[in-house]
Amino acid sequence: MRSKLFFILILLWLFAACKDNPYGKGMRIYQQHCAVCHADDGNGLQGLIPPIRQSDYLAQHQDDLACIIRHGLSEPITVNNQLYDMQKMPPNDKLNEIAITNLINFISNAWGNQADFVTVEKIKEDLGRCSTGE
Ligand code: HEC
Repeated sequence: MRSKLFFILILLWLFAACKDNPYGKGMRIYQQHCAVCHADDGNGLQGLIPPIRQSDYLAQHQDDLACIIRHGLSEPITVNNQLYDMQKMPPNDKLNEIAITNLINFISNAWGNQADFVTVEKIKEDLGRCSTGE
């Protein structure tokens, strides 16, 4: 009897916790697909994987983010005055538009990052502009 009540309380708490955090879904996608390289704290790996925490590149490429996430990135880039040309970012063909939208809303507002909230419609538009010559 007691354990059942406990279980229900945990469920209620989980429900409340998810509702309180609009970026919760994006956070889970980040942890599954991105954190292995960019780290839980978004700091990347020095010299090899660029940070997405307070990255000037991320702030300046909001409209390209969806394409970067879907198709990866292989050209040399400069992030916060450091050149990254050693590793490629792999494509993510399993993430649909909704997942990409949640993910972008999470990374663009986590760790002190601040960007406008994006809609699925915008992400669909952005994806339509990806260059496919990779
Ligand atoms: C296998 C390692 C790896 C994984 C997994 C990975 N990335 Fe990257 N990411 C990189 C590398 C390496 C670069 C730099 C690529 C280059 O120099 O062309 C990069 C670049 C970026 C950039 C642009 C540069 C910056 O730091 O602002 C963003 C944004 C980004 N990744 C986000 C993500 C997101 C979101 C995910 C999860 C869907 C993800 N990455 C998964 C390795 C990875």
